[in-house]
Order: sequence, then C-alpha cells, then structure tokens
Amino acid sequence: MKLKRSDTITSSTQIHFIYQTDSDTIPDFQGKNGDITVRYEKNATLLYCGLGEKALCTNTEYRVAALKGIQKAMELKRDKVSIIIPEKNTTPDVSRSIIEGTLLGGYKFSVYKSEQPFRISSAEIINCSLDNTDFKNTIALCESVLYARDLVNDNASVVNPQFLASEAMKLASQNGFIVTTLDEKELRKKGLNLIAAVGQASSTPPRLIFIEYTGDIKSKEKTAIVGKGITFDSGGQNHKPTGSIETMRSDMAGAAAVLGVMKSLAAIKPKINVVGVIPAAHNALGGNAYFPGDIYKAYSGKTVEIWSTDAEGRLVLADAIAYCQEKYKPSAIIDLATLTGGVLYALSDFVAGLFSNNDTLASALFTSGEITGERVWRLPLYKEYCDSIKGELGDIRNVSKLKKGHASSITGAAFIKEFVNDTVAWAHIDIAGTAFNEGSARGDVPANATGYGVRLLMNYLMNH
Ligand code: BES
Ligand code: ZN
Ligand code: ZN
Repeated sequence: MKLKRSDTITSSTQIHFIYQTDSDTIPDFQGKNGDITVRYEKNATLLYCGLGEKALCTNTEYRVAALKGIQKAMELKRDKVSIIIPEKNTTPDVSRSIIEGTLLGGYKFSVYKSEQPFRISSAEIINCSLDNTDFKNTIALCESVLYARDLVNDNASVVNPQFLASEAMKLASQNGFIVTTLDEKELRKKGLNLIAAVGQASSTPPRLIFIEYTGDIKSKEKTAIVGKGITFDSGGQNHKPTGSIETMRSDMAGAAAVLGVMKSLAAIKPKINVVGVIPAAHNALGGNAYFPGDIYKAYSGKTVEIWSTDAEGRLVLADAIAYCQEKYKPSAIIDLATLTGGVLYALSDFVAGLFSNNDTLASALFTSGEITGERVWRLPLYKEYCDSIKGELGDIRNVSKLKKGHASSITGAAFIKEFVNDTVAWAHIDIAGTAFNEGSARGDVPANATGYGVRLLMNYLMNH
C-alpha cells in the first residue's frame, strides 16, 4: 500500500475516527475503541472507527482504530482510501499511530496462498501533523516490522541460517553496512563451541552474523542488539512433542527483529552506532546431534553441562554475547529471544519478560514498551536463581536445579547473565509469548508472526 499525505479528501472511501463522546452524531454507533460502522452516502462510503474515551486514548487505541478501518476497507475491496486524522494540529503521536495501524493492519502473509488476497493500492492521510522526515521514517519503520513478520512466517526450510546470513548481506550491499559471518568451521576454530554444538546435526549448518551500522563515527558508544536465530527448534535429542513443535519456525523471531531494526536504521539513518548480532542455527535431531549429559566449553572459557538440548537458545546467545563483547566492545547489549515457554505462564502473550543488570536501561526499555505498545515487564535475577544454575562436573548447567518449570524464564536469563561483563549494561527480553500469536488476531496483534521488538528497539535506540 502506497501512503501519501494530502490536504484534501480525494477518495470516495473515507476512514474517520470518532471519540466516544462524539458518537451521538452517528446513529446507532457507540464509538467504543475497536468498533467500526460503515455508512453509505450518495457519493461516498464512510467508515467510522471508534476511539473510545479521549482521556483513555493511548497510541494503541489510535493504532487499533486505524487497523480496523483499513481492514474494513480491504474487506470492501476499495482500491484507494482517504484516512482522516481527527482534528488538525493533533500530536505527532496520534498521526504516527494511525499511520502504523494502517500499514501494519494491511498485512497479510500470502506467499503460500493460491489465490492472492485483495490489496489496497494507495491511502492518503489527511491532517497529518508529522513533518516529511517523520512521515517517511514512520513508513520505513512499518515496512521493517512487516519484513520481520515475513521472515518469521515463512517456512523453516526457506529461512535457514544461510538465508539469514544472505539477508544480512543484502542489507549490507544496499546500505553500506559491514557484515561479518562466521561459518561452522570458523565457529569451531574460534571456540564458539556452543553455537557449533546446537547447529551440528543440521544439513544447514550454523552461522554467527554481525551487521555494523555506524551513524556517528565520532562516538565510541555502540549498542549491540542480539537476536536468537534458531531457524527451527525441534528440541534436539530432548525432542519437542506434538502440540509444541508446530510453531517452532518462529524461534528466530529475535533474529528477525534485529534484521528489522537494521533495515529501519538504514532508512532513518540516526546518529548512533549499532551492531546487530545473530547466532543462527537449526536445532535438529539426527545422528550428529549434541548430547544431553555432555559438557561443552563455551567461547568465554566457562564449561556448560547440557541438561536439555531443548534449552538451546541460551547456549547460542552465550557464545554470541561473549564473542561480541570481545570484538565489538559495545557499551550496552540488548538481546531478544524466544527463550522460554515459561514467560507465557508469567505474563501471557501480550507482555515480554525483561531482565537486566542495569536499572537505567531497564527503565528506558519499559518506557519504550509503554509508548510503542510492545510492552515489557521486569523480573528479578536474585541470587537464589543465579545459584540454581551452578554445575557439578562443569561450571554451569543449561537448565536450573529448581523444580521442573519453576521460574524457567528467570533461570534462563540468569544463564545468559553468566556471559555478560559486569561493566556492560545488558538487558534480555524474552519474547517467546509476544513474537508469535497462535490464536486469532486481537487488537493490533495479528495472528501468527507479530514483528514484536522492531518498534520497541527502534524507539529505545532513537531516544538514547
Ligand atoms: N524455543 C523454546 C521456547 C519457546 C516456547 C518459544 C514456546 C516459543 C514458544 C526454547 O528453546 C525452549 O525449548 N525452552 C525450554 C527450556 C527448558 C528446557 C529449560 C522451555 O521453555 O520449556
Ligand atoms: Zn528449545
Ligand atoms: Zn528455542
């Protein structure tokens, strides 16, 4: 869908937004958030989208209303629409959210559909209070979210470690990023044994990918964003059962978010430095699969007891983070990972788990979550949790000694923390619940891949 701004309404299909208090101007319409009604006039189709009570409207309410509007217009098969932002001189946040709702709401993953869904060709935005740069940046950000969704939704047989590396190369050739990829031989040679072990049973071997964006040559500050890139998580020897395995192509959603952020940075070009890091592997079951009970030496030098080959995300992240710290010297590290099913028990699928060694970073990410609607909630890393992953024959174990399932998200985070230098501000975001919606669409969350993390991280990076 092409988006442009306009001063006058030129389309006969018009999307309007109505606060609850103003809804009495439209008969039989309450104006609740998410409600929509279609009214036909002589020469126009008017789609009224409810915003709810004005005082309760956050960015999410505007995004949801716009999403309902564009989806209704798609249902009605309108080629062009006019989107009328309520009130002139409204806040940039309102305009931004309505544009986001429009572009993200228009998404359909149709690569494998015999019949292609109807697509709206263009939308004009009336009363947009964003300047041209902000307008373009918002569109670029949304395109990056859709790109991340596509990567997660597509087949695991397509999006394998090599595919992720080639996507990174594509970004590099289009935008002048520096991309460095370590293949399976280099991983072994350099002692990145955990990534090598997790990926060793697959016919598509592991990769460790670095994408450098330098927007401020003068500054030494650099943020590393690390995304878990398990392109399919079978569980390995601790194989996943039917009922848990079907959606495991989404185990690279952290990597997809990192690629999405890098794509956004390329378009928006902020004066910051970011290195995107993707440990990519297919956790396969096969004759060459790594064993539960084995002890492996990590890149950092610590030895790790494998108590479950299904707790593989923390293993690849451990090596990626340790190597990244040494080679790229980031001042902050944020990792995104579909790490534990446990995070769904703690927070369900609409809030991600946040873990950090730094209060300032944690609170900044919390704020970005509230602004973008990609919410995070911090959980503790108390000593008892950290003690529960101490090893017997090796230094640490990849599954805690606590009762099965107890605080599994926290102990997973505690494992990663073992590989982070104390001097580096670090945050881990467990997106196992938020990255992929197994149910039907709700609010502004689509079914299947959500693209979670791109808007959250971009908001954080642009403001810090
Ligand atoms: N990829 C899974 C976590 C996951 C679960 C992601 C559900 C998305 C939806 C991860 O690798 C995993 O299997 N974690 C185990 C860890 C356990 C063995 C300590 C889990 O959470 O059960
Ligand atoms: Zn697993
Ligand atoms: Zn996994």
